[in-house]
Amino acid sequence: MPMHDQSVTRYSTVAIVLHWAIALLLILNIALYWISDSLPEEQGRALMDWHKSTGMLILILSLFRLGWRWLHPVPPYPAGLPQLQKLVAKAVHVGFYVIMIGMPLTGWVMMSGAPPYAQIIFYGLFEWPRLPFVDGAQGAAADFWEAVGGSHELLAWLAYGLIALHVAGALYHQYIARDAIMARMSPRSGK
Ligand code: HEM
Ligand code: HEM
Repeated sequence: MPMHDQSVTRYSTVAIVLHWAIALLLILNIALYWISDSLPEEQGRALMDWHKSTGMLILILSLFRLGWRWLHPVPPYPAGLPQLQKLVAKAVHVGFYVIMIGMPLTGWVMMSGAPPYAQIIFYGLFEWPRLPFVDGAQGAAADFWEAVGGSHELLAWLAYGLIALHVAGALYHQYIARDAIMARMSPRSGK
């Protein structure tokens, strides 16, 4: 795809597939936490194992997505889109990349500091490695959990806000402004 080609009006197929796959996984992962929170401990823990694996999957997909984005620049905005809208959209998108990478990383640090029995078994397949610079004994320290778990939770709140803004923006473009923004990321091939 040529750079800055004004005729390119849609994200690439790979970017679209990754957008919707990661969006679904991210919402699923938030739901997994909240459902696990309301279940008895044993069942809740099983769902949290899925939460940890899905978080890692999101990390892998998001790093690939960033690489893809770097090699395949995003389509330019249609002429006439207000500067402020472009600015807010950009800020929300950057915020999402912080979420997609920061949430798994803080989760990974949290689990790397946990005692040895609390491993991450990636979808029951293999043991996910621990981060080498985090001491497994730190899990016992309340201030470690407060700092790392607190950052994970803070990012979760940021995610709720960004999702609300992003979905409101998408609906605004589709139903009020009625422009072609939604079509840029729509799974249907509008070419
Ligand atoms: C909650 C999960 C979601 C995440 C993490 C997410 C993330 C993103 C990101 C990072 C971008 C920018 C892509 C890039 O330039 O690299 C984007 C674009 C877009 N997203 Fe989402 N998204 C989510 C859900 C949704 C939903 C539910 C909708 C529709 C209702 C939607 C509609 C769009 C549209 C139309 C664009 C293109 C906007 C543009 O061209 O500036 N997204 N999304
Ligand atoms: C994009 C990926 C992820 C998302 C969206 C996500 C989302 C969340 C949310 C919303 C919470 C609840 C926060 C709260 O209100 O206290 C949470 C808690 C938690 N997450 Fe994640 N998470 C992700 C990745 C991970 C990963 C990779 C791990 C571990 C490997 C992990 C481990 C945990 C743990 C242990 C808790 C419970 C913390 C506590 O009980 O205080 N998460 N996560």
